[in-house]
Amino acid sequence: MLKDIESILIPEEKLKARIYEMAKQIEKDYQGKTVTFICILRGASVFFCDLVREINLDVRFEFMSVSSYGAGTTSSGEVRIVKDINTPLAGKDVIIVEDIIDSGSTLSFLKKILEQRGPASIKVCTLLDKPSRRKVEFKGDYVGFEIEDKFVVGCGLDYAERYRNLKDVCILKPEVYTK
Ligand code: IMP
Ligand code: MG
Repeated sequence: MLKDIESILIPEEKLKARIYEMAKQIEKDYQGKTVTFICILRGASVFFCDLVREINLDVRFEFMSVSSYGAGTTSSGEVRIVKDINTPLAGKDVIIVEDIIDSGSTLSFLKKILEQRGPASIKVCTLLDKPSRRKVEFKGDYVGFEIEDKFVVGCGLDYAERYRNLKDVCILKPEVYTK
């Protein structure tokens, strides 16, 4: 697996430090509230676990799965809910936790759908953001790192379902997805 990695973009220690800062910011912003975190499977799973364990608030966990990608490295632009939650969101303070904002289509679609369920508030927390790739205007409320236009894996992010368990956010060797 490591032979496929070209370089480390964000090392584990930097991820940990930034995730801790994000957690403390959320803690401050939601003092005295119960927060419903919606983890977007599967990419956000690793970030989600690291994040929520640093948050000292009353929290609830929900898991959703949407698909916009095939096995490739670019979004199809078409978004589908693959697994929904069955807990009502009306009146709740919701934070969607995602791995990365790329074209913006997944989150703008998802946020619109969840807004229709009447939450008291809804925000988006993402580990990574590639603003240069936007096709749909979208801004995350809590953003870990803005990165350049490179396809990355690790810390939950995959290429064709592989490399999610890498501890660092890594850039793959181009021959891995061109072969
Ligand atoms: P968007 O709808 O184009 O913003 O796509 C968001 C989804 O694309 C993310 O949840 C990821 O699953 C996937 N994605 C976008 N960029 C990358 C990347 O660099 N590595 C791995 N997955 C990515
Ligand atoms: Mg993915």
